[in-house]
Order: sequence, then C-alpha cells, then structure tokens
Amino acid sequence: MSTFDHRKYRPTPAPQMRDRQWPSRTITAAPRWCSVDLRDGNQALLEPMNVAQKQRMWALLVKLGFKEIEVGFPSASQPDFDFVRWLIEAHAIPEDVTIQVLVQAREALIVRTFEALKGAKRAIVHVYNSTSPVQRERVFGLDRAGVTAIARQGAEWVQREARKYPATAWTFQYSPESFSNTEMDYAVEVCEAVLDVWQPTPAQPCIINLPSTVESSTPNIFADQVEYFATHISRRDSIILSLHTHNDRGCAVAAAELGVLAGADRVEGTLLGNGERTGNMDIVTMAMNLYSQGIDPELDLSNPDEIIQVAVECTALPVHPRHPWVGELVYTAFSGSHQDAIRKCLQRQQADAPWQVAYLPIDPLDIGRDYQAVIRVNSQSGKGGVAFVMERDYGLSLPRWMQEELAQAVQRTSEADGGEVDSARIHALFMQTFVNDHARVSLKGYRLDRTGGQDTLAAQIMFDQQIQLIQGHGEGAISAFVQGWMRHSGQRISVVDYSEHAIGSGTDAEAVAYIQLNIDGQRVAGAAFDHDTVSASLKAVLSALNRVNVREAIPPAALSPAAS
Ligand code: KIV
Ligand code: ZN
Repeated sequence: MSTFDHRKYRPTPAPQMRDRQWPSRTITAAPRWCSVDLRDGNQALLEPMNVAQKQRMWALLVKLGFKEIEVGFPSASQPDFDFVRWLIEAHAIPEDVTIQVLVQAREALIVRTFEALKGAKRAIVHVYNSTSPVQRERVFGLDRAGVTAIARQGAEWVQREARKYPATAWTFQYSPESFSNTEMDYAVEVCEAVLDVWQPTPAQPCIINLPSTVESSTPNIFADQVEYFATHISRRDSIILSLHTHNDRGCAVAAAELGVLAGADRVEGTLLGNGERTGNMDIVTMAMNLYSQGIDPELDLSNPDEIIQVAVECTALPVHPRHPWVGELVYTAFSGSHQDAIRKCLQRQQADAPWQVAYLPIDPLDIGRDYQAVIRVNSQSGKGGVAFVMERDYGLSLPRWMQEELAQAVQRTSEADGGEVDSARIHALFMQTFVNDHARVSLKGYRLDRTGGQDTLAAQIMFDQQIQLIQGHGEGAISAFVQGWMRHSGQRISVVDYSEHAIGSGTDAEAVAYIQLNIDGQRVAGAAFDHDTVSASLKAVLSALNRVNVREAIPPAALSPAAS
C-alpha cells in the first residue's frame, strides 16, 4: 500500500473572522526590515559562516541599509558570542544600526546573552519559547499555564539582566515560536503575560514577533491570524508588531505581505530566502515587490549581483536562475512573441515616463542588468528576437521580410546545433545568407548619368575573373541596373522591396542596403554595405543575384566584355 496518503493530515485551523479588514487594504510603505541572515540563516547552513564570512555578510547588510540585524545566538554558540564581541569592540556598528540577538527563555542563557552584549550602545534582546499545542504537549509536556510561565519567567530574566547594564539602550522582543500553529486566543494570552512584565509604552515599545515557524496554511489564513492578534492584544500602541515567516509552502513572501496588510509593522527575513528547510522569507523579493509597485523599499537593492555574490560565498548555496527579480534568466525572453512585444515596448518607452514594458515588470537597468540579457535567441524565437539582436548589437534595422527569412535560418541552426544561438552567430548567418556581393559576380565600379529624368547606368562587374559591362536605363540606379542585367542575361527580374539606412554617423558612416527581388518568379533577398549608397544598393542586387545559380542563369557570353 502506498504511504502517499493525504488522509494522514489535517488542515490548519483558521481563526473565526467576521469582519476582516486586511483584504481591502494596500501596502503603501516599506515595513521595518530586520535581517536574520546571521542567525536563522546561519543556523540553517551545513557549514555555518566563519568569522570572515560573517563580517562580509554584516558589511553587506549594513551597506544595503538594514537598520536592525539579528547577529546570532551568542549563548548557544561561541562563534556567535565572539562575533557579537567583535562588533562591539571593533566599533563596527554604525550609529543608526541596532543589533539583535536571540535567546531561549532560560536563565543561564539569558545571563550569558547580556554578557555578550556588554558595552553595546543599543541592542534588541529577542527571547522566545514555543507555544503551539504540539510543542506544549509533545515536546515540553506542559499545559497552557506551564508554557505561559516559561514566557513570563523569560521576560523577567531579560528585564532583570538588562537593568544590570543601564548604559545600553535596550529593546525587548518576544516570539511565541510556532505562533501560526498556536490557538489564537492562547497566542494573545501568552504575549499578554510577557507585556505584563515588560510594561511597554509608546515611548519605550517592545517588539512582539509572530513566526510561522513552519508554514502550514495559505497566506490568507496567516493574515487572519495576524489581524486577530493585532486587534485582540492590549497596548497595541506600545508594540512593534513583527512577522517572521518561513517558506515551507512557498508562500513566505505572500504571507508576510498579507501580514503587513493585517497590521504588522516589521518583517524579519533573509537575503534570497536562506533559512531552515525551504528557507526564511526572502527580503530581496518582498522589497523588490514593493519597488515594482512604486514604493520605496528603503533598502538599496540596485546591485543584486553583489548580493548574490556575497550570499553564495557565505552560504555556499546557489541562486536559482529564475529566482524572483534577480535570477540570471529573469530578464531573458526566449519566446518570439515575448521578444517582439518587449522590443516594441522598449522602442516606445520614454526615459522619464512610468515604466510600461510587456513582460518586463521593472527596467533591468535599475538593478544593473542591461538589455544584453533581455533577449536570447533559440528555436522558439521568432523574427522579433532576431531583429532585436541585429539592431541592438549591429545597428541593422532589417526589413520585416528579411527578419522572417533570417529567423528561419536561426531556427534551423538552433535545431541542428541545439539550444541558444548567440548574437555573433546570428550576425554570421545574416552575412552568409544575404551578403553575397563578393561571390561569383561583384561590382568593380559604375557611372550614373541623369538626363531628362532618366538614369543611365554603366556598371563594371567582375564575373568569373572577367570584367563585364552592364548598361541600362531606368528611374534610379537600381532600376537602370536591373534593366541592364535583364537585357544581358535574359532573366526576368523585378524589385519587390528596397530599403537602406546609415550605420553610425559622421563622414565615416557606412550605408546598408536591403533588397528583395523577384528573379524568374522566385523571391530572393540580398543586402550589402558600402560607404556610397548607390554602390551599396547595386551590391545588394548582386547579393540577391548571387543567391540564385548565376552560372546556369547567366551564361558569361551573354554579358558584353567591358570597354577598355
Ligand atoms: O522560525 C522561528 O520561529 C524562529 C524564532 C526563533 C523566531 O526563528
Ligand atoms: Zn525562523
């Protein structure tokens, strides 16, 4: 019999809410952030950070603008104790940053925690004990009153020890660990016991931190729990209500966001979501979510590559290429229709207008990513991606019909070689396919005369190592050349489409000409470059002619030898 049996599990009970307010609210400002990278994040590592790594992570967190940083569990770990001492003794804590340390509600550990913090100007002491029925009954073998006594006693020890160090500005924080699996009336009751000890005031508030230690419900239920708590706890004006979500169901960010709607002021999390099991709430994601809605995240996330580099160096964990906002592939569109839409929107996007680009929720430039990574071309890409790359990397604005033909060549190459076709390869395919003006037939020179609105063109062409002369009349150089060629070769040729543009600017600018001919009933495209636009256009005609089998189509004898 299969052990995969959903009947083993029960849904997380949700508080009965009649008049919930959070669904009709919106987030308008960033919460207070607290990084727990150096504590919760560090505790979850196979190999905890060494001193150098902690210092590196600390420097990054400060640089990003965190004002509250949980730096360790000094009573439980000597390296954490030493790190706290280093921060204080090396004066490494900026004036506007407050360190936070975690401790269980146990006397000896609390005493040691305060020893670690000796000499700190400010500090948050974060005490916790677990409150859910499973923890109460199965882990501690205690009833509600017994667990409340632990919390109250812990609060008292914290207060007693703090009084021994009056030079430090203390903030107390309490977490009913496993809050989201605790009955809400009891979560409020246990926190009231702590508040009774600490007696916070609006001028001297404490932090109550509500963890989803193991995420076990949909984020709306967590939001209901937060709103229940926020509206039932006393002294709300003397509490900074904090959230600490984990990502077991993949919803830690959503839970924190809805929790903020439900009344939380502060959010704890880690960079890129490192933490126990599936991780802590990812502050980078939540902050970038705010940013993309026009809200100042109050963290400087303009260089996620640095965040990734430090995070990877400190945690030895890779970052998924599709990680929200910052992954390697986040600003890359593989599908042709996406590429086409992005290209059109980018062309229409004005520098100071609100960002409106399909498939790009933010401007990649904001976070140091450039458009290099926006579009890559593979067999799924249509003409849009190919056109984008040719324009972006080579300044070539291909006409639509040429984009289509080039996209087919790219697709064949991608299917044959497998995977992505890079920009240089696309350009090479363009040159191979369309630019054949130095193949069997090439232009040596020309003379163009205009009399009475009629152009007469005499072109010297090299055909199989022999110089030949083509002469024709028409309106414009191309039509005169085509007329002359038809007369000499017997081919039926008409010009279907033609365009040209300069590449670069100034006197040195080159011209590129694109032409689509109908040669004996078959459409053939060609392109060519030259500093002279007439030469570019005649060469483009030759590029197209060279694509059909000129040996069969044009017997050399049909062409007149050049006049010497
Ligand atoms: O996840 C958790 O519950 C914790 C607490 C100690 C806040 O990390
Ligand atoms: Zn945690």
